[in-house]
Amino acid sequence: MKFIDSILKEGRTFYPSHEFSRRAHIKNFQEYSRLYKKSVENPEAFWAEKAKQLDWFRKWDIVLRNDMGFFKWFEGGYLNVCHNCVDRIVKSGKGKKAALIWEPESGEHKTYTYEELLKEVCRLANVLRKLGIKKGDVVEIYLPMIPELPIAMLACARIGAIHSVVFAGFSSDALKDRIQDSSAVLLITADGSFRNGKVFPLKDNADAALKECPSIKNVIVAKRANNGISMSDGRDFWWHELVNDAEDFCGAESLHSEESLFILYTSGTTGKPKGILHTQAGYLLFAYQTFKWVFDIRDNDIYFCTADIGWITGHSYIVYGPLSNGATIVMYEGSPTFPNPDRFWRIIEKHKATIFYTAPTAIRALAKEGDEWPNKCNLSSLRLLGTVGEPINPEAWMWYHEMIGKKRCPIVDTWWQTETGGILISPLPGATPLKPGSAAKPFFGIVADVLREDGSKAGINEGGYLVIKTPWPGMLRTIWNNPEKYKSTYFEKFGVYLTGDSARIDEEGYFWIMGRIDDVIKVAGHRIGSAEVESSLVSHRAVAEAAIVPYPHDIKGQAIYAFVVLKKGFEKSDGLREELRNHVSKTVGPIAKPDKLQFADDLPKTRSGKIMRRILKAVAEGSRDYGNIMTLADPGIVEILAKDRI
Ligand code: WTA
Repeated sequence: MKFIDSILKEGRTFYPSHEFSRRAHIKNFQEYSRLYKKSVENPEAFWAEKAKQLDWFRKWDIVLRNDMGFFKWFEGGYLNVCHNCVDRIVKSGKGKKAALIWEPESGEHKTYTYEELLKEVCRLANVLRKLGIKKGDVVEIYLPMIPELPIAMLACARIGAIHSVVFAGFSSDALKDRIQDSSAVLLITADGSFRNGKVFPLKDNADAALKECPSIKNVIVAKRANNGISMSDGRDFWWHELVNDAEDFCGAESLHSEESLFILYTSGTTGKPKGILHTQAGYLLFAYQTFKWVFDIRDNDIYFCTADIGWITGHSYIVYGPLSNGATIVMYEGSPTFPNPDRFWRIIEKHKATIFYTAPTAIRALAKEGDEWPNKCNLSSLRLLGTVGEPINPEAWMWYHEMIGKKRCPIVDTWWQTETGGILISPLPGATPLKPGSAAKPFFGIVADVLREDGSKAGINEGGYLVIKTPWPGMLRTIWNNPEKYKSTYFEKFGVYLTGDSARIDEEGYFWIMGRIDDVIKVAGHRIGSAEVESSLVSHRAVAEAAIVPYPHDIKGQAIYAFVVLKKGFEKSDGLREELRNHVSKTVGPIAKPDKLQFADDLPKTRSGKIMRRILKAVAEGSRDYGNIMTLADPGIVEILAKDRI
């Protein structure tokens, strides 16, 4: 019996145009195959060769070392990530080239050249030093999509501080948990942020979180929304006042390859979010090389990525990958539908973007608004499209291909994770024939495979566990404060890196990602751990027990369905249902708000008390395919749940 049945069969193939291939870094499939073979025969030689493109203060002694399951790249080498992303580009003669084009919701865009970016970064780096921030200190960054966000990250990298960015859409509780786990000493935030023309009170949220975060000594506040906020004397400072007095240059710290660069929290299967740790040289090299080849970057490209920098996509493919390549980035502040659902297409037209990278959920949502929106815009500047974050269904792929790419632009469906630091499986746009819905082939140096439960290799088109069999430079180094969890989560099951995704490999070696195997739910491309939402629900005084499961959703891909058992003395009501949904929104963040919430008298459990999620999933999906329910303590409960389904 197959471990996972694959039902998707897609027969169409699209080839890159001759014109595209001719000018591409990797020009045809033979070239990819030859280079790939060489790269996996000796990944260390491959990466050592590529690493020469970066500026090093001291060359490495050893390319890769396995330190009892913790992988170290380029030990003995010293460099600075910020120097490589900014100074190195200025030195190469591109100081006057636009590094960042910032498009605020209001539309009055602002451009920073590489030279200007260098100055802003240096000034903030000097401010950080003056506030006593040293190498190895953690700086929490809770900023919206404004230029101060990449500037703050780069300033940290410049002086060797470890940044931990928290998505600005998260609530104060989520911020508090992350600050407490990372023991950050400084918080950088803004007064407020704009979305759909409305102001979101960022500083108020931060203040609420800081009541329980004694490690934070100072707060730097960027002025964005001009909303009234309170400043705590001696603790809080305005960004613009501090940088006014700062020098325009700040030397870049020479950092060992394996010094920490950043922590980024992501949802796991159990408990609180995990702090994924990335270090200097390996991460930078991987972001640099994958960006260069997957996006086939050229000097005159204008690259627009719609991700929020609060997620890994923004870290690797708005900040570190593009800047280290000397690219021009378009960064948008707000909502895709503000003021109309053509905002992305308008931005492409306005800035003549050549490369566009977004998430399937955005494509589905914008496709639903109708073809007239993209049709009214001039999208002829585009030459390459990309997607990330979740599987893209072939219908959405075709719409993207026809309506946005006008059948002219290759689409790179890039598979990767917060943990992988950069893209591991993706087409190369000038070389790889595309199959809608498939992330195609592994990047150079990446040995990906699909395994059965017993660790044997799955057959052709047989679904199983997606694993990566050898280390790569961009991989996570550990989980912050929890090295045991790093080992048990990623390496215990098979002894090689376990992704948590299921996949199949077809006759031609193409990878088809089938979704998560564990209890992580991908809502609109964002990773949400069931445990986090469940503990939020249970923290409400009316709730005795809760379980959440994903169910298919037209636009978001998956949405959250919650089953809630109330404590004695609480009445089921629509009012309470709304209150509970809002409670999750407030305590975890609006992205985690359950779309549906069903009250239940009991949950299906095994005799040992374990909740049987597959049964709840079947109920949520309206399927009668419960599997064996006789192991339940009370099999009768299933019919009642199905009857009460919303
Ligand atoms: C999913 C996002 C299918 C996958 C960069 C993975 C994808 C999780 C794709 C990581 C893709 C990402 N096709 N699924 N092209 N890209 N995923 O950490 O389930 O937010 O494990 O990183 O997103 O999510 P994360």
